[in-house]
Amino acid sequence: MEDDERIAAVEDVPADGSFLFTVSADGEEREAILVRLSDGTIAGWLNYCMHWTDVALDTGDGAPTRDGELVCRKHAATFEKDSGVCTHGPCEGARLDPVEIVVEDGDVYLADADYEFVAAGVEDDDPVDLSTSPGSRIGF
Ligand code: FES
Repeated sequence: MEDDERIAAVEDVPADGSFLFTVSADGEEREAILVRLSDGTIAGWLNYCMHWTDVALDTGDGAPTRDGELVCRKHAATFEKDSGVCTHGPCEGARLDPVEIVVEDGDVYLADADYEFVAAGVEDDDPVDLSTSPGSRIGF
């Protein structure tokens, strides 16, 4: 794998929470997360709830988790870490957008032809204002 596609060391991905990073697609930056699964493997997802797609799961301090699932802070939708499927909440049945990654020699690399790796973390670390943020939304 290329060094410029290296996201993080495997050990940087917490067992609980998530590792936040930035990718770009067609010149537009997107937030993404790495999560550690119960078997120790790692999965990658875009960092946006499927209910209101402008709401980040990880706002800079790791995505909340409960019973091994990711939890959206806004309306408490839960997502399986391995499949990305929403198991409960207003977007039940929807699936987080996957980001393909590969683990090699203790490091996690971006391996998704749709995205380019930009940086670990996000440039603007201001927390998302969940009360006023605009964006595409499905009602519930
Ligand atoms: S915005 Fe995530 S559950 Fe509503």
